[in-house]
Amino acid sequence: MYSADEIKDILDIRLSKKRYQHSLNVAAEAKKLAEHYEYANTEKAYITGLLHDICKEIPKDEQFTLVKGSDMNVTEVEIATPPLHHAIAGARYAEQALNLYDEDMLNAIRYHTVGRAGMSRLEEIIYLADLISADRNYKDVSKMRKTAYQSIEKAMLEALKFSVTDVVNKGSMLPSHTIEAYNYYISIKKKDKERAGVK
Ligand SMILES: [Fe+2]
Ligand SMILES: [Fe+2]
Repeated sequence: MYSADEIKDILDIRLSKKRYQHSLNVAAEAKKLAEHYEYANTEKAYITGLLHDICKEIPKDEQFTLVKGSDMNVTEVEIATPPLHHAIAGARYAEQALNLYDEDMLNAIRYHTVGRAGMSRLEEIIYLADLISADRNYKDVSKMRKTAYQSIEKAMLEALKFSVTDVVNKGSMLPSHTIEAYNYYISIKKKDKERAGVK
């Protein structure tokens, strides 16, 4: 596997200054979340954060070629939604061109836009790090930052609620992975409530 410094050199060539800085920020945030939640391999979280948008700025047709070559459960809706391609393409590229064979890291790159049911801790860390990295400045970002360090499951549910609402408001199609992710975190919340004796 490439070292963090080697990956930074690759990103420096492939990404604009702004996107490069975003990638560094997501990596730093991923490492922080990993430490906070005692995820064993913080370097893995850092490197996955660096890699998550590696295909964000390559031409659309190159992204699409990588998507078509992916065997990572790509849905029709995702194929029809170009802004989602870079995540699937990124995982494919990391495997093909960078010889990254760590399944958890590849999944974290692949699902960082849509989420999915049963996300691993690393997948959650990357999904949230992307939303709360230092360069983000949407309306509720400080609230989301706080929640991310209080409960990772609660933060995922909040993030998915926002994502589903946003997609619906834009009149776009909802990827089934996102719906399944939303249902998954709702069921976790329900179980937590039942355990706490709240009906
Ligand atoms: Fe992305
Ligand atoms: Fe990103």
